[in-house]
Amino acid sequence: MSAPASKPRTIVVADSCSLAEAAAKRLTDRIAQNPQQVRICLTGGSTPRRLYELLATPPWRALIPWPRVHWFLTDDRFVPQDDPLSNIGMARVAFLDACAPSENVHAIPTSAATPDEAAERYEHDLKSFHASGLDHEPPLFDLVLMGIGPDGHTASLFPNAPALNEQQRWAVGVAKANVAPFVPRVTLTFPCLSSTREMLFLVSSDEKRDILTRAFSGEDLPATHARASRGETIWLLDQAAAPKNL
Ligand code: 6PG
Repeated sequence: MSAPASKPRTIVVADSCSLAEAAAKRLTDRIAQNPQQVRICLTGGSTPRRLYELLATPPWRALIPWPRVHWFLTDDRFVPQDDPLSNIGMARVAFLDACAPSENVHAIPTSAATPDEAAERYEHDLKSFHASGLDHEPPLFDLVLMGIGPDGHTASLFPNAPALNEQQRWAVGVAKANVAPFVPRVTLTFPCLSSTREMLFLVSSDEKRDILTRAFSGEDLPATHARASRGETIWLLDQAAAPKNL
C-alpha cells in the first residue's frame, strides 16, 4: 500500500552549510531505506552545489552504495554538458565524475536537435527504468531534489507555461526561460516529478525570502504545486530564506 501524499513539511536550519549537511543526511537515509536499485533526481541551479560537493567527501561518500544508485535530473539547460550553464555539468564536476559509475548517470540528452527531441529521448530513458507507469508502485524515484526560482518556478516549470498542465508526457522542451539563464530548457513534468518517495526542496539565502513568503502564503506558483504524490514533501530552508511569519 503506497503512502498517501502528505502535507508539505518545513525544516529550518541555521545556514547554507547546515542545509547541505541536512540534505546529505536525508539523501543517504533515503538510499538506506531501499536495498535495491535507487533512483535520485537532482535539481540544478546554484543551491545544491554544496550538497553535491559534500557527497564526494567523508563521511557521506562511504555511506552511498554507488554501484546501485542511479542519478537523473529534474531539468537542464539546453546547452552542451561542458557549458558552465549545464546542470549535469555542475553535478559531474561536483561529485558524479569522481564517485558514480558513468552508466549510472542519466543526463538529459542536450545534444539532441531540439529541446522537444531531448525531452522525448529522456522520457524513453526514464520509461526503460519504470515500465509500469507513474501511477504504480514503486514510484519512479526514491528522492527528487527541487529548488525555487525568484519567480516561483521549479525545475524548468515557469509561471503560466503550458508545461504546467502537462499530464501525459514525462518530459517536455521549454523554448523560453522566464528567468536567467535565458536559454531553452528540458524539464520533467509534474506527474513525473511527483512519482517519488520524497520530494526535497532546498532553499537558501535571504534572496529567496520574498518568493518563499509568497509561496507559503498560498500564492499560486509552480513550486507550490510540486509534491510527492505518494510520500513526503519537505521544504528544507536555511534561516536567511525562512519567511518571518513561519
Ligand atoms: C535550474 C533549476 C531551477 C533551480 C531554481 C533555483 O535549472 O535553474 O532546476 O529550478 O532549482 O531556479 O536556482 P538557484 O538554486 O540557483 O537559486
